[in-house]
Amino acid sequence: MLSKQRALIKIFYSLFIIIFIFYAFLECNSDYIKHPISIIIYIISLILMIISYFLEKKNYKNSLDENNLINNNDIKKIDHGFDGILELDNKIPKLWFKLFYITIVISIIYFYSFLFTNFANPQFEYKIAYRNQLKEIKEYEKKKPQASIETVKFDEKFINDGKKLFNENCATCHNVDGGGNIGPNLTDDYWINHTEKTLIKNVFSIIWNGSKNNKVMRAFGASGEIKGNDIQKISSYIYYINKIKKKPNNPKFPEGEKIILE
Ligand code: HEC
Repeated sequence: MLSKQRALIKIFYSLFIIIFIFYAFLECNSDYIKHPISIIIYIISLILMIISYFLEKKNYKNSLDENNLINNNDIKKIDHGFDGILELDNKIPKLWFKLFYITIVISIIYFYSFLFTNFANPQFEYKIAYRNQLKEIKEYEKKKPQASIETVKFDEKFINDGKKLFNENCATCHNVDGGGNIGPNLTDDYWINHTEKTLIKNVFSIIWNGSKNNKVMRAFGASGEIKGNDIQKISSYIYYINKIKKKPNNPKFPEGEKIILE
């Protein structure tokens, strides 16, 4: 009976330890170590270990009594014997012990470093690498040649980004669907401002320079408010809503001259 209970307890705390090791180390996340659930697991494991220690001790005494060995001082014994087998304490080579102590010291250093420093902690290393990469991308974006009125072209892959930028910067005056509000409808073939021969260049030029007639449409590009590549994306989006997408339901009345730009 007693050994059954003990076996169960051992299985339980071994399981707890395995689960903990899995999450704390293999998942490489030091946050798990300080997680409230982990702390509950430590406490339960500790209690189970203490219980199993006392159960073992009690059983050991019983088995020694049975074997009538408890008072035999000639034999050096190790303090456990729940299975009735007596373990003798013979000397281990000194080198083994030294190696054992060295591993303890190393494990303490390693464990400490893992928890409290960024040495040997993959989570930390990942965060640093990730941050550096973002920085590199930002720098690259800054140095990257920007689109200009000469190089601008329509590309489908710009549409999604362009839509986001349009909603952030332009939708207040031109409506989310581009159908017009304070500013004119951008989805029809009527243009107040017409300086370039193609639609994409004309749009790019207006966003870059603003409108000469109406300063409400400001020079987003020339003032540095929006970079060339982003203007190219917005222009691609306007090309898309003007030429490809279904027209808005309630667009603003036409303004300017009817000019069909390709
Ligand atoms: C504060 C309001 C406002 C914002 C913000 C604004 N616009 Fe305008 N936009 C206008 C007005 C007003 C006009 C009409 C200018 C004119 O009469 O020449 C205009 C004109 C235009 C035109 C030319 C239309 C034509 O018929 O000539 C385009 C293209 C355009 N805007 C695109 C944009 C884009 C793209 C953005 C965002 C980056 C933007 N606008 C942001 C108010 C705005």
